[in-house]
Amino acid sequence: MTVLITGATRGIGLALAQCAADRGDQVIATYRGSLPSQSREIDWHMLDVTDPQAHRQLSDRLAAKPLSLLVCNAGVYLEKGHQLERDYRAQDWAETFAVNVTGVFLTIQSFLPQVRAGKGKIAIISSQMGSDNTASGGSYIYRASKAAVLNLGRNLAVDLRSEGIPVGIYHPGWVQTDMGGHYAQITPQEAAQGLMQRFSVLSVKTTGCFECWDGRTHPF
Ligand SMILES: NC(=O)c1ccc[n+]([C@@H]2O[C@H](COP(=O)([O-])OP(=O)(O)OC[C@H]3O[C@@H](n4cnc5c(N)ncnc54)[C@H](OP(=O)(O)O)[C@@H]3O)[C@@H](O)[C@H]2O)c1
Repeated sequence: MTVLITGATRGIGLALAQCAADRGDQVIATYRGSLPSQSREIDWHMLDVTDPQAHRQLSDRLAAKPLSLLVCNAGVYLEKGHQLERDYRAQDWAETFAVNVTGVFLTIQSFLPQVRAGKGKIAIISSQMGSDNTASGGSYIYRASKAAVLNLGRNLAVDLRSEGIPVGIYHPGWVQTDMGGHYAQITPQEAAQGLMQRFSVLSVKTTGCFECWDGRTHPF
């Protein structure tokens, strides 16, 4: 298996990369700033997912690498503590959507040839916060971006089904990362192990699914 994971310098992305490497996969992981210290057996490439030129360059460099799995993990949550009437600048909306939505689209668009060549699968890390069903208020930008990427994944699933390329959308759990915070419910390793299990059973029969890390189906 050859797996490409975006935003793998820390948190869930790093745990996914380590989990895949541990089971013997060939792991291609992307970073945008500095590399993590523990990066054994991982082939690192620089990629800011908001940069179309960087996508083109990396896709050209990896042109001969068929992918079994493409994981769109990179994401931001910029609005902690935002107040409805005081904060929420237009720039916060633009920056969040550039990473969490456009970044995912550009990743899939850029590496679709390699996914086709590898008869691979696509996994999008969204969030329960993208679900209309579990709307509990606040975090308007992040919630809207994760709802948008859920919608993107559902529509790509329709379009790629005839090619046999499944697309799954996932809630990774509330995870102890820089984004999730210390009080979150599960470790990045637990999230990664659960997600890898979900990716392994993703198929054209289940394409378009919205699932939690532990296998529960998430309401849309
Ligand atoms: N933690 C949770 O409880 C939770 C819950 C639901 C969903 N999620 C989702 O799970 C994914 C991973 O979250 P996490 O908790 O692991 O977050 P994290 O610890 O904040 O890590 C985010 C990762 O995304 C990368 N990234 C951010 N902007 C990028 C860009 N423009 N280009 C490339 N990489 C970029 C970061 O790279 P740098 O190191 O360079 O900043 C980092 O590697 C995200 O999509 C998040 O929305 C997390």
